[in-house]
Formats: sequence, C-alpha cells, structure tokens
Amino acid sequence: MGKDVIIACDFASREQTMNFLDQFTEEKPFVKIGMELYYAEGPAIVREIKSRGHKIFLDLKLHDIPNTVKKAMSVLSNLDVDITNLHAAGTTAMMKAALEGLTRPDGTRPLLIAVTQLTSTDQESMERDLLIHEPIDQVVMHYAETAKNAGLDGIVCSPLEAGKVHGRCGDGFLTITPGVRFADGDVGDQKRVMTPAAAKEIGSDYIVVGRPITQAEDPVAAYRRCVTEFCD
Ligand code: C5P
Repeated sequence: MGKDVIIACDFASREQTMNFLDQFTEEKPFVKIGMELYYAEGPAIVREIKSRGHKIFLDLKLHDIPNTVKKAMSVLSNLDVDITNLHAAGTTAMMKAALEGLTRPDGTRPLLIAVTQLTSTDQESMERDLLIHEPIDQVVMHYAETAKNAGLDGIVCSPLEAGKVHGRCGDGFLTITPGVRFADGDVGDQKRVMTPAAAKEIGSDYIVVGRPITQAEDPVAAYRRCVTEFCD
C-alpha cells in the first residue's frame, strides 16, 4: 500500500455516512472511521463499509494496559480493517502487545500506526499536565522512533513533519498526515496546513482529508482533485 487519499468520514450516523459514500459511483475511496461514528454505530458500520469495497482506517487511538489492548486489537483485526492506531504514550510493551493481538493466524495483520503528541497538546500543556519538559518536536520524534523500534508501521503526523520522520525512521516508515487543504480553500480550525501537492512533495504516504471533501459542493470532484494532486 502507499500514496493514497483517505477521506475522514466524521459523520454522526450511518445514514449521513452512506448518503455521502453513495455519491461515489466510480471509485471506492479509502475511508477513515473515527470514534464518533464507531461509538454511534458499532462494528456493523465497519463491516458495511468494508463490504462495499472500501479500505478502512479505524481511528480509535487505543491506550490501555498491554493485555487489554492486545485483546481489543484482536477484535479489530477480525473486522478486517486495513489500518488502525494507538497512542505511542502507552509505551513499547503496549505497542508490542497490540501487534501480537492484531496478527491473524495466517500471519497477516492491518497496518498499525502510532499517534505521538496530539496536535491539541502544546509545549505549555505538555509541561504543566504531563511533566514532559523536552521540546515538543523532540518528543514527537522520540515517540516515532519508539514506535518504529516496537515494530509499528508508521505514525500520524503533520505533513510538515513527514520529511523529518522519514529522515529519522526511514522511508519505509509510513507517515499519515491530516491538516491538508486546497490552496484556494478554507483552513477552518487547522493551524498548520499543506496542500495535497505539497504533501506529496514532502513525502507523505497517506493524506487524511475531511472537510475539504465532505463539505465540498461536489465531494467527488474534490476527492478527485486530491487524488490528482497527491497520487498522480
Ligand atoms: O476536516 P479535516 O480535513 O480537518 O479532518 C482531518 C481529520 O484528521 C479529522 O478526522 C481529525 O480528527 C484528524 N486529525 C487531525 N489532526 C491530528 C490528528 C487527527 O486533524 N493531529
């Protein structure tokens, strides 16, 4: 796998999600299902979207003791998702247990991606609430290396960090990057953004695009524009 546009389906219900996906009659975009939709609709929504032929990034960001995460990952693996994720802050033991849980009897497994420091955490809140005093970009890079050493496949990061992550962890370590906007589009609440073309240039492996596609007047055209800029 590699170089694909993942649509963040940040919808509150099955109905809204299916109305959105029904517009795609020619292609089957890679879909990200997050906590809101998963907690509203449960595993059935994953099975249904999968059965329609879409690849799925299940974005549930697990973080618990290793044994619990291992068992939960085994359930997600049986749902046949293509990518899932966890918090690197759960430490190496949790990440290794997650990989064990994800691995199916035939040796295959979904890709496993780490979340480092959330972009909603800044230097001040990290120092005050987490008692982590290193510069935040070093913390992110350390989490990336820890995830790689635990055997994970990549991290979620800003497209602005993708080049640096590849430099430290190798080109094969995947970077999945939200915060993508068209050059002529609304930035919304994202602070550090990049166009699909620039994300391609800097070496992102997957871009995660939500509102620029889901809220577009013509979502299919917006998706195709992303694919043309990022993949072609
Ligand atoms: O609508 P938009 O393109 O901003 O959506 C981006 C998606 O990526 C959302 O699902 C958001 O939760 C997710 N995300 C993010 N920034 C992160 C991690 C995830 O925007 N650091």
